[in-house]
Amino acid sequence: ERQHQESLFLVNEFAKQFYQEQMFETDRGKSVALSYFKQRGFREEVIKKFGLGYAPAGKDTFTLTAVQKGYNADLLKQLGLTSQYWRDFFRDRVMFPIHNLSGKVIGFGGRILVKDVKAPKYVNTPETEVYNKSKVLYGAFHAKQAIRKRDECILVEGYTDVISLHQADVKNVVASSGTSLTVGQIGLIKRYTENIKILYDGDKAGVKAALRGLGLVLEQGLNVKIVLLPDGEDPDSYVQSVGTDAFRNYIDQEAKDFIMFQAGLLQEEAAGDPVKLSKLIQEIVESISKIPDPIKRSLYVRECANLMGVDEQLLVNEANKAVEARL
Ligand code: CTP
Ligand code: MN
Ligand code: MN
Ligand code: MN
Ligand code: MN
Repeated sequence: ERQHQESLFLVNEFAKQFYQEQMFETDRGKSVALSYFKQRGFREEVIKKFGLGYAPAGKDTFTLTAVQKGYNADLLKQLGLTSQYWRDFFRDRVMFPIHNLSGKVIGFGGRILVKDVKAPKYVNTPETEVYNKSKVLYGAFHAKQAIRKRDECILVEGYTDVISLHQADVKNVVASSGTSLTVGQIGLIKRYTENIKILYDGDKAGVKAALRGLGLVLEQGLNVKIVLLPDGEDPDSYVQSVGTDAFRNYIDQEAKDFIMFQAGLLQEEAAGDPVKLSKLIQEIVESISKIPDPIKRSLYVRECANLMGVDEQLLVNEANKAVEARL
């Protein structure tokens, strides 16, 4: 079993090297893929560090090469690298290898080079024996030391956000790859820190995604801050436009405690409407009741009561009821 896993890692490592060679050593790779990354502002050092590459456009270039070199065709299929009829799964895409915590390649994300209404922007390895999407955080291998050192994990949405931030020397960063956080992913973060800063895209979808993860993250006892980026920006575009220092200043200044952020957001929505307001209080109470630490809970109750201008004792009672309902 263990040996089987090792052979899967070996095949994935071969694929990563193949895609890298295709990008650095073929004319087409250089002219469409390497130049794509460079146009996005990625320098060669970070391109190599993250093992970025290019999957050629031919229908089976990768599969044929792998089989010729003696790699087992069944394994290629098990890993999702080869599809039905011996077609390459990733074709004419720039490639982002995904590593586990020990740096082994467990899967890939592939980005389309030119916008296409029919094809998805990203294609990712399907679930395999070594790639379980819900337990993976992109960039964790490259970030773990910095997360421990800074005692904080920055969570972003995308592959390119992680890479850009690394290049800008912000290294305690991982990506959820566009999905809302799972318990497995939170468990990964908790090995290194209890502090998480969520930095999602500055659009409605980003805010919603951030709020969706809230309950789980609170239940797991993490301290959560949220930073809203300017409208239309994501961490990649923003750090490239303002530079490292301004980026760090921005996230330090804009980071809001997650519960207070939620309270503020809902309060704006409820403005002056007593029915909405009481529903809002229930939602906040619900969030607070998920925090395992009773001392933290009571501090939040006090702050929220202040912010929303409601009686503290009332909020205490409501929170106690919600906590008991969870037991
Ligand atoms: N994603 C995906 N499939 C898609 C779109 C997005 O798996 N069709 C995941 C990818 O991991 C992507 C992340 O969601 O990195 C965030 O999506 P998005 O913000 O749209 O992409 P960016 O990471 O900003 O990529 P780019 O800057 O290249 O457009
Ligand atoms: Mn990685
Ligand atoms: Mn987005
Ligand atoms: Mn982007
Ligand atoms: Mn984005």
